[in-house]
Amino acid sequence: MKNVLVTGGAGFIGSNFIHYLLRVEPDVRIVNLDALTYAGNLANLSGLPDESRHTFVHGNICDRALVDGLFQRYQVDTVVHFAAESHVDRSIRDPGTFVQTNVVGTYTLLEAARQAWAGDSAISMSEARFHHVSTDEVFGTLGPADPPFNEATPYAPSSVYSATKASSDHLVRAYHRTYGLPVTITNCSNNYGPYQFPEKLIPLMILKGVMGQDLPVYGDGKQVRDWLYVEDHVEAIHQVLKRGDIGQTYCVGGDNQPPNIEIVETICDILDELAPGTPPASHRSLIKHVVDRPGHDRRYDINIQKIKTELGWQPRRTLRDGLLATVTWYLDHPEWVSAISQRSDFKTWMEHNYSQRGGGK
Ligand code: NAD
Ligand code: TYD
Repeated sequence: MKNVLVTGGAGFIGSNFIHYLLRVEPDVRIVNLDALTYAGNLANLSGLPDESRHTFVHGNICDRALVDGLFQRYQVDTVVHFAAESHVDRSIRDPGTFVQTNVVGTYTLLEAARQAWAGDSAISMSEARFHHVSTDEVFGTLGPADPPFNEATPYAPSSVYSATKASSDHLVRAYHRTYGLPVTITNCSNNYGPYQFPEKLIPLMILKGVMGQDLPVYGDGKQVRDWLYVEDHVEAIHQVLKRGDIGQTYCVGGDNQPPNIEIVETICDILDELAPGTPPASHRSLIKHVVDRPGHDRRYDINIQKIKTELGWQPRRTLRDGLLATVTWYLDHPEWVSAISQRSDFKTWMEHNYSQRGGGK
């Protein structure tokens, strides 16, 4: 691993990965290709450990000529592919963008890698790696008594987001089986931590809680996700890059599965402690159940035995610690938060997604 092409490195997990990799791998150089959609944010990349080993390229993963040029120019031997449309609620409103980026974009990168590492080219397949970052949502929803997902669970995606991620996973595996492309895949659970765009549950609740606004909990709030602190996740990816077996998939999770309502209540309690001056005295009084998401998956849970036993990775953060660190980060970065919350496209999204929901049950 010398020259790493990171896609989507101005987003939440990608930027955390870049901060981490520059810190732990002193000889690696990174080219970061990001289209700077609403979710991409150059502020996520400020204060990198070593700026001189990071090159930012503003562009789209669907642009084949651009991607080919990056492989050639930077002698890319490793791809870590994060770029995606990532929000389920947006996929309900705008499915086409998800098909384009998540499916066509992944296909474009795979083709470029296949060509760049083929035959007698400077980087051969045996020195290269294509790592694809995916989600546990490809496995669909679990009933209350079902066992957790694992690497052999059949795919059954429910949303356009998860269906397009499932498609991209299948393409990645097909490029390995058909062309021998040296791939690895991680399917991880819900991430949280610094730099997450405040449309997702945890940062949204922090942002609204601080402003004393209603906290919109979909349906009964008893849906369950597994929560993974982002720093634990980027460590897992690093381990897979270093020691994972070609062609393998690894499930990554945080070993935490509280219902959504408990997550929101814990954030409220932390805000009561850390931001007591903000109204109201008890943030729990802001919780408001609203109309549910269509097709909402009820429960996710993930078995991380394989990555634990084969690569020795396991999550370090407990949920309480991770939430405390996350709330603290958002409170300490009011300029990062307000730059997003004042954007007109963010206000429009909030209006679209929440104004019709009213009160749920
Ligand atoms: P994000 O939405 O925060 O960031 C996505 C980044 O990709 C942004 O910087 C955006 O500008 C960029 N991007 C989007 N379309 C692009 C395109 N066509 N070309 C180039 N760049 C483009 O997403 P995230 O939460 O950081 O997720 C990263 C990856 O991890 C995604 O593949 C997602 O499916 C996966 N994942 C995320 C979670 C989670 O909880 N956030 C959980 C499991 C898997
Ligand atoms: P989200 O952060 O959007 O991630 P995902 O849909 O990929 O799991 O949502 C996490 C959970 O929180 C999910 O069950 C939906 C729920 N949720 C709310 O209850 N209210 C909200 O405003 C949002 C954004 C999510």
